[in-house]
Amino acid sequence: MILSYYTLLFMATNYTVKSKSDALPNTEFGILFWQKGKLEVNKKDQKTIQKSLDRLIASGEKNECQVISYPREKSPRTLFMVGLGENPVLDSFRRGVAAGVQYAKQNSIQDISIIVPDVLENKEVGQAVVEGVELGGYAFSKYLSGQEKIKQFKVIKNVDVFTNKEETAEVNRGIKFGKEFAKATILARDLVNEPAAHATPQALLEKAREIGRESKGQILVEHYDRKECEIRGMGAFLGVAQGSVHEPVFIHLVYQPVENSKDMPTIALIGKGVTFDSGGLNIKPGDGMETMKVDMAGAAAVLGVFSALSKLQFNVKVHGYMALCENMPSGSAMKPGDIVKTQSGKTIEIKNTDAEGRLTLADALLEAQKSKPDYLIDLATLTGACMVALGEDVAGLFSNDDDFSSMLIKSADNEGEQMWRLPLVEDYKIQVKSNIADLRNLATKRWGGAVTAALFLQEFVGKTPWIHVDIAGPSFVEQQNNPVNPAGGSGFGVRTLLKLIELLDTKNSQKT
Ligand code: BES
Ligand code: MN
Ligand code: ZN
Repeated sequence: MILSYYTLLFMATNYTVKSKSDALPNTEFGILFWQKGKLEVNKKDQKTIQKSLDRLIASGEKNECQVISYPREKSPRTLFMVGLGENPVLDSFRRGVAAGVQYAKQNSIQDISIIVPDVLENKEVGQAVVEGVELGGYAFSKYLSGQEKIKQFKVIKNVDVFTNKEETAEVNRGIKFGKEFAKATILARDLVNEPAAHATPQALLEKAREIGRESKGQILVEHYDRKECEIRGMGAFLGVAQGSVHEPVFIHLVYQPVENSKDMPTIALIGKGVTFDSGGLNIKPGDGMETMKVDMAGAAAVLGVFSALSKLQFNVKVHGYMALCENMPSGSAMKPGDIVKTQSGKTIEIKNTDAEGRLTLADALLEAQKSKPDYLIDLATLTGACMVALGEDVAGLFSNDDDFSSMLIKSADNEGEQMWRLPLVEDYKIQVKSNIADLRNLATKRWGGAVTAALFLQEFVGKTPWIHVDIAGPSFVEQQNNPVNPAGGSGFGVRTLLKLIELLDTKNSQKT
């Protein structure tokens, strides 16, 4: 079973950086950005374009899209006009590109020109072009057939990126990065979109091994089967796994930079990897279960990140951990009232088998700390409560370290992935204590479910700077809202983590 289908045919698009002064004369379909009163085009076209915009009562506000067409000597020209608003930010540009690409796909346009606005020119923009094109144009068409498959799979052949001459090298560098960032995100999307029947713990192990092989020895992949997890005392993880016919597996990946200096930072990434969450014996109602193949999105993101590391060659040591299993009801399933023991010896009373993520993560967080990382970060589709708090598009972030959390928020901003920090309220800690075990997996009170879940995780983390990102909302898009993320798995977190690793690398090399 091939788990990443789209990536097989990925990068069919050619990117060419050209000089901006040639932009409009050669453009049949172009994506053009503008701000009120600022239209960066030659005099002749400016009049025509401005007239059309006036007729449309376009204001150039942020994310506003308008399509205008006008005749020329040879063929007509269509411009996809994107407003940048008063204070342009990188993500408006990325979204504009994605929206333009979706329009092009719908209209069977294969060649597009993107005219980079002056306000944003640098490496980041080159990267955002590719991210916008590849991620906005993504569709999971693997299980479609006939005409519909062909329609969904239309690809853009050529993208000409018009920029100022002096910026060409930086934009090209950004394009290279963008290809890796986008490809890694798409791998995560493919893994999430794949039905749980196929994306089993064993299938994900195969994928991890493939990533290891392709890294030519730079990424080591080791795994523990059920027996080994038992020997290691991962009772919380195995408790969740015990109701399923699919064998669980614990995976540990390590990326080792070529340059092996002593003061290089080490980061451990932990991804929640429940390949299907039925709720277990506390079974979910039908509509709550429908998209629960998403429950391995954290693990998918970590795999996505690793798939790009040996290409990007950051000088940061990266560990990846995922406890992969399925949460199912059966005669052998874990029961409410059971008590499980984690590998540190801490015991947990099971109050609800649907609060399974924190159980698998407890053992994964403990395992991760054995490599003594400088930074610890987990990504988990952990609580519906986080979606109640922040909605579908924004992830909740919890941390014991202000500097580390600002760094992650900065990375997320740069990539257009929205995160909002929520508090680890000390007074609520008592809600996850049990009378008959050290902890209970369901808080005593209903309110603040995302917070109490994070507090539970914190019980398994020491002093190491740690971040927990609750990605329950943004991991899966029910209905497209942001054109960069079409419906389905979003690959949320992949680009933010890659950017974070890039930042750690830059910060460390400037230290000397
Ligand atoms: N995987 C779910 C959380 C989830 C909900 C992810 C919606 C994506 C979309 C998690 O395992 C879960 O079931 N959480 C429960 C916790 C409760 C039993 C304390 C929840 O949120 O209802
Ligand atoms: Mn659950
Ligand atoms: Zn879950």
